[in-house]
Amino acid sequence: MKIKRQGFAIRTGGFQTGMIIMKANTAISETKGQCPVNSHNEWDPLEEVIVGVVDGATFPPYHITLEATMPHHQLPVFRENAGKPFPPEQIAMAKQELEEFVHILEGEGVKVRRPVPVDQLQQYGGPGWTSTGLYDAMPRDVLLVIGNELIECPLAWRSRYYGTAAFRPLLKEYFKNGAKWSSAPKPELKDELYDYQWTDPADGEPPHFVITEFEPTFDAADFIRCGRDIFAQESNVTNKFGIEWLRRHLGDTYRIHVFEFSDPHAMHIDATLTLLAPGKLLINAERVLEVPRIFKGWDVFSSPKPIIPDDHPFYMTSKWINMNTLMLDEKRIIVERQDEPMIAALKNWGFTPILCNFRNFNSFGGSFHCATLDVRRRGKLESYVLDGE
Ligand code: ARG
Repeated sequence: MKIKRQGFAIRTGGFQTGMIIMKANTAISETKGQCPVNSHNEWDPLEEVIVGVVDGATFPPYHITLEATMPHHQLPVFRENAGKPFPPEQIAMAKQELEEFVHILEGEGVKVRRPVPVDQLQQYGGPGWTSTGLYDAMPRDVLLVIGNELIECPLAWRSRYYGTAAFRPLLKEYFKNGAKWSSAPKPELKDELYDYQWTDPADGEPPHFVITEFEPTFDAADFIRCGRDIFAQESNVTNKFGIEWLRRHLGDTYRIHVFEFSDPHAMHIDATLTLLAPGKLLINAERVLEVPRIFKGWDVFSSPKPIIPDDHPFYMTSKWINMNTLMLDEKRIIVERQDEPMIAALKNWGFTPILCNFRNFNSFGGSFHCATLDVRRRGKLESYVLDGE
């Protein structure tokens, strides 16, 4: 048996024995040094990042999950365009902004990786259902990086069943170079997962969600990493079952804290509560009515109100997407170029904003945090909040 030094591409064919795997891994760490995946929080110096693509973006087939997760005035567009591609001119404008974003990141010394877009119009199905896809624009939603591990999420939307496919070439490469790669149990996405009677909660009523506890589901973007502590929300894509799966999967090294916010269409925590640096929290004060006790002693910054004009097309998000920024380290932060109130506020709070046009990308339902997956940041696992809170 000959074991070559480049990963596990070994003549014996691979994975059969523990001994081979161990030797192969030793070879990897000897030749490459550090693991290519290493990210514990939102602010350590960014070294490598995946940036999504909008090519082939498609409106999903109409489904009750859309009603629960987006502002209602956007729904007619989804009804009319179900299963059809997004307008090509909108894709082109968003694509141009993504290129600008990539250019900026590279200029700041960050290695940028891109997925290989997949055909979103291809039909697929599961027990009792069929669907077409959505897009590969938001790696933040579909993949969770915890330390050296990449986790493929059990996504609750049928249109996202194959949501990690575009990232598989990268996942395989990271695995070969030493990362841990796992996938949560693939959901069945049967009708039992959805509450087809779902309607908006009445004012003051506690949140209720469009997904049931039929099986574990979660989107990575419902979690925010803060070293050993992970902050989460239950939402219209993330259920208790999913959070519990992740808690047990990660084990005692991590603590998952689940917060409740005032958001009738909750999906993804990163336009509600984000972390800018150790001890620095950014909140959407319309949704975070009380700052969780665990942040005692932290600076709490309240996001300036978004200034995006009402006639700007928006799908799948509220205007609060303006707080969906990306930290390159504890100071440098990528912000939408036209968002003057946010830029001024960040400067005032001691950060260094780096401006990038992104409004046309925002139309697709996310901003810099959603569009990225910080695969590697220079840093190690630490605790940043008081124990036992
Ligand atoms: N649901 C949020 C809002 O409407 C948008 C969150 C987008 N985040 C993401 N990771 N795709 O404000």
